[in-house]
Amino acid sequence: MIRHQCLPAGWSEREALRDKGQFWTPGWIAEAMVAYVAKDTDLIFDPAAGRGAFLEALLKIGRQDVLYFGTDTDKDLLTDKIYNNKCCLVEERDFIKHPPLNKFRAIVANPPYIRHHRIDNDTKLLLKRLSVRIIGHSIDGRAGYHIFFLIQALNLLEKNGRLAFIMPADTCEGTFAGKLWKWISEKFCIEAVITFESMATPFPSVDTNAIIFMIKNSRPVENILWVKSNEAHSTDLLKFVSSDFKTHMFDSLEIVSRNLGVAIATGLTRPQQAQSGFTFRLNAFATVMRGIATGSNEFFFLTARQVKELAIPAEFIKRAIGRTRDVTGDILTVADVNNLEDKDRPTYLFSINGHSELPDSVSRYLEIGQLMGLSDRPLIKQRSPWYKMETREVPPLLFAYLGRRNTRFILNEAGVVPLTGFLCVYPLCKDKAYTIKLWEALNHPDTLSNLPLVGKSYGSGAIKVEPGNLSVLPIPQHIVKQYELKRPAAGGQLSLFPD
Ligand SMILES: C[S@@+](CC[C@H](N)C(=O)[O-])C[C@H]1O[C@@H](n2cnc3c(N)ncnc32)[C@H](O)[C@@H]1O
Repeated sequence: MIRHQCLPAGWSEREALRDKGQFWTPGWIAEAMVAYVAKDTDLIFDPAAGRGAFLEALLKIGRQDVLYFGTDTDKDLLTDKIYNNKCCLVEERDFIKHPPLNKFRAIVANPPYIRHHRIDNDTKLLLKRLSVRIIGHSIDGRAGYHIFFLIQALNLLEKNGRLAFIMPADTCEGTFAGKLWKWISEKFCIEAVITFESMATPFPSVDTNAIIFMIKNSRPVENILWVKSNEAHSTDLLKFVSSDFKTHMFDSLEIVSRNLGVAIATGLTRPQQAQSGFTFRLNAFATVMRGIATGSNEFFFLTARQVKELAIPAEFIKRAIGRTRDVTGDILTVADVNNLEDKDRPTYLFSINGHSELPDSVSRYLEIGQLMGLSDRPLIKQRSPWYKMETREVPPLLFAYLGRRNTRFILNEAGVVPLTGFLCVYPLCKDKAYTIKLWEALNHPDTLSNLPLVGKSYGSGAIKVEPGNLSVLPIPQHIVKQYELKRPAAGGQLSLFPD
């Protein structure tokens, strides 16, 4: 009940759309995609037709000579007046469960982006079978519906046929991506991959970084065209595709030819520079760990008022920070945390670990936790006893795990332990001056610009970076020099990089 009161306006509509994966492709994108597949064909198949964005694009680019065949599970959408057009045919059909039996020379789609946790178990089993049948093995269960749309569609592509799909970036970054791209790159010719600068995102209202794949069912080639579009609504993309990828001089496009194997290993969403070897990475100067996972912030992460009311003694609490948005600057001070406390934000972690005796007030509170069924929760039940809390040394630096802000490394002057909204960064040298130098070096725009090389992108500039990936964040050589970053050498001496 309480949660619903806090939901932002438009949330339930957006949730409904998410269940069905209904996000419409804007014209400037649909036209470029349709122009690619419409070459040498008299029929285009769109397995997830929706409101007919690709049909509209086909008409817009003047290809009335091509027949459009669309399917969708939502029959209401198929009554849209655009489908009265005589050059089209639409059918209510589930493309995953009942794909058409024939193959197609041209397939275009913006498949439903339905993430795995919204897919029921029976459907998951069906998807698993689908991938085993088509690519020879199952792919990681965290793959969303769109991944199987792509696999199914590629399987229905005629020899020399063309396919254009617009997909979320996880297609190249998810745990399943390795197997998926191995199959695609060995069987098909990936002609072009189109990515978008965050200001040019095709779906500004959705937290998804989109990427377009233009793939031909012909022998694989060694190099692909990797494109970054820097301006939304530009006609450059359409012109580039219509020139058969021959014209490269466009103000809004960066076009590079990249070795396919290296591009896939780097992650197709990531730019070329990721290929070059970096001499210095964060792990030469610091170690990284995720923040504390409580298993239930509601129970374990308390406000000062709750601590007082519950009479929990000081030795059972630690000052902590939970939400990234609770930290607004790049330094977190005691005054900032006091400020949060004044606003009744949680700032104390209820932390039992290694205590031999529990006072009555603590035992009483644990009973409440039992009544809440916490001891049966997935993460918590692996702990013994269930209320034993993870521990972390206070990290001198924090890293905001997922966010859009430029400043991501935070100097932890408040001496708090972070929950999972943050990563803990522990400089290898303990002295304060060194920590400050490292913090400045990490927040330098030249270092921050390497974050997309190691993180997962979520559209509108948001990047999520896991601990293992942050520890290999490249630090440019000139930054290492400028800030005189050092690492501990044998015998505890500091040695200057490069030495
Ligand atoms: C992202 S929308 C794209 C619609 C349109 N082609 C466009 O680009 O604007 C995806 C569409 O797929 C439909 N859809 C979802 N599951 C489907 C399935 N199993 N088979 C066919 N269509 C499906 C949704 O109803 C939705 O209209």
